[in-house]
Amino acid sequence: MTLPTRKVEFVNPRAAHSFKARTCSIRSVGSYVPEKVLTNHDIAKLVDTSDEWIQSRTGIRERRVAAENEFTSHLAAKAAQDALEKGGLTADDIDLIIVATITPDMMFPSTACLVQQLIGAKRAAAFDLEAACSGFVYALEVGQQFIMSQTYNTVMVIGAEKLSTIIDWEDRNTCVLFGDGAGAAILQNVPDSHGLLTATMGADGGKGELLYMPGGGSKVPTTEDSVRNRLHFLHMDGRETFKNAVNAMCSAAREVLARCELEITQIQHIIPHQANQRIINAVGDRLKAKEDQVFVNLEKYGNTSAASVAIALDEAATSGRLQRGDLILILVFGAGLTWGAAIIEW
Ligand code: COA
Repeated sequence: MTLPTRKVEFVNPRAAHSFKARTCSIRSVGSYVPEKVLTNHDIAKLVDTSDEWIQSRTGIRERRVAAENEFTSHLAAKAAQDALEKGGLTADDIDLIIVATITPDMMFPSTACLVQQLIGAKRAAAFDLEAACSGFVYALEVGQQFIMSQTYNTVMVIGAEKLSTIIDWEDRNTCVLFGDGAGAAILQNVPDSHGLLTATMGADGGKGELLYMPGGGSKVPTTEDSVRNRLHFLHMDGRETFKNAVNAMCSAAREVLARCELEITQIQHIIPHQANQRIINAVGDRLKAKEDQVFVNLEKYGNTSAASVAIALDEAATSGRLQRGDLILILVFGAGLTWGAAIIEW
């Protein structure tokens, strides 16, 4: 088996033609989850559900819930600090912070600006990016462009969510699925090192209402009616979302594998969006992946949206599961609809 060496031809061809591309490495990763654990049994006290139903339909056993005075920016800042420590860097080294989130602290300023202040990254530019559960791969791809174009040397990419604030705790269809948390990655150009081989992003705005939060924006501003009608909570068509998730993650996986001329058997670790064990199994089966290739931690955290694959990547790294040179396939899917995939050489 010959593994490809990482060269410009593996880099996104749309970007590579316009400048002498550098490669983009992941210097380090980090994560943070809130202390409070909410088990399925705890949720069964709130709505008509059971641990058995939740585990058999989703694989989730428990999730983390942030404290009242702990916001998305706090979770994001702690994940960022973890990544800085693991990478041997300081906040002064950061040129740009990108936060992927659908649960910003507030409409504006951006959560990225709040994180910049919290960690003291005075030199860094900062902005948020919104691609729901696909946010981390979108942010990786965007961050990569700044590294490759030589605009910035060090980019902090964060996926962070306090989903507990937009979950309808009276809706058993959705409240069992989600959790809070954050994950971060630091992108740099490290010559002749490991890195992001390629990434793809996709979207289908025509299916936006499969998973959305109607209230709080310019279309449905906050009013007494919007609150009474529960429009400031996440709404979802579970079955359709499920089908679209499987299809989108499979085709994104095939696209990046083909771009790198890789077979699924050459991938050591598949890190799929941690939404539902049955979605992960269906994607694994269709891609003909082996069970031990697939990293799963959703039983502990549920679906943490933009943070999901970032937390999983950090856990896989911290546990020693990832060896230098391993190939990692990351797959994401979320509201928008959005989806994406990335291949990383560790
Ligand atoms: N506890 C007990 N019963 C529940 C329940 C819960 N928490 N949630 C739903 N039910 C009920 C439904 O009301 C329905 O009852 P009915 O037949 O009397 O109407 C029944 O269980 C079956 O519902 P169904 O929607 O067919 O279940 P499902 O097998 O599709 O599983 C999901 C539901 C939500 C777990 C599943 O559709 C799913 O995971 N979808 C994708 C969600 C997702 O990942 N979203 C984020 C993407 S980024």
